[in-house]
Amino acid sequence: MKYDNIIIDEEGAIATVTINRPSKLNALNRDTIKELSKAFSDLEDDHDIKVIILTGSGEKAFVAGADISEFADFSVKQGGKLAAKGQKILFDLVEDLETPVIAAVNGFALGGGLELAMSCHFRVASDNARMGLPEVSLGVIPGYGGTQRLPQLIGKGRAMEMIMTASMINADQALNYGLVNHVVAQNELLDLCKKIAGKISNNSPVAISHAIKAVNAGFKHDSNGYASEIKAFGECFGTADFKEGTSAFLEKRKADFPGE
Ligand code: COA
Repeated sequence: MKYDNIIIDEEGAIATVTINRPSKLNALNRDTIKELSKAFSDLEDDHDIKVIILTGSGEKAFVAGADISEFADFSVKQGGKLAAKGQKILFDLVEDLETPVIAAVNGFALGGGLELAMSCHFRVASDNARMGLPEVSLGVIPGYGGTQRLPQLIGKGRAMEMIMTASMINADQALNYGLVNHVVAQNELLDLCKKIAGKISNNSPVAISHAIKAVNAGFKHDSNGYASEIKAFGECFGTADFKEGTSAFLEKRKADFPGE
């Protein structure tokens, strides 16, 4: 598929997805959301890709939010549909993706932009990054999972304050809150993400996908995290990756995981 709003670069086992609307600070319009949804689904199906990095084009923004110009005149029904569809086709999809996704937050991550970064499995930021959920300043609330994922990541009180004040926090505060795992200079951001991705890609992709599922299960109301862990743990014993990982350890060699 040809994409107009995103760019995909593949380098060995790592794919970098760049949201490419820099003149609009990479704001998420309908087409961009659809393209991202398709790209993530396709990359998940491509078993040569072991890690995905998501970033924004230009030096200013990761994503400055949902595209406000597209929903300014929406009705109650349209507003509800917008959130439901977006959550399903992109935000939940990314969170539950079997392939690990790292958000490389290279500037503003606001509203839907921060919500997208929070759907990724973890985040690394450049030192110019600014993060916030400014929705209440527009008379609306976060609708792409922000009221749920922000408290999960930084605690309820801090999330309440960020949501109610609509203020931005800088990269150091995000690091202090645990919203991002590392902060580096902007020109080092992708290199650090690729270094982390490289370490991840040496490990069993099947085990990693089970781990993602088990971790996420603990944060969902319709599943039990411990029960999911037990089930996923057991399933690992039936995989070729487990045979290879344990054989390699016993034979004192580096594992070469088949990804099955
Ligand atoms: N939706 C649509 N367009 C957006 C956008 C968004 N969320 N965020 C930025 N843009 C557009 C601006 O309208 C502007 O377009 P134009 O040049 O055609 O007028 C362009 O991106 C550049 O933004 P600008 O506001 O001029 O940059 P700035 O450096 O002065 O300010 C921000 C940067 C991020 C502080 C500011 O753009 C902003 O507040 N954006 C909205 C953030 C927001 O509320 N997001 C949550 C949406 S629910």
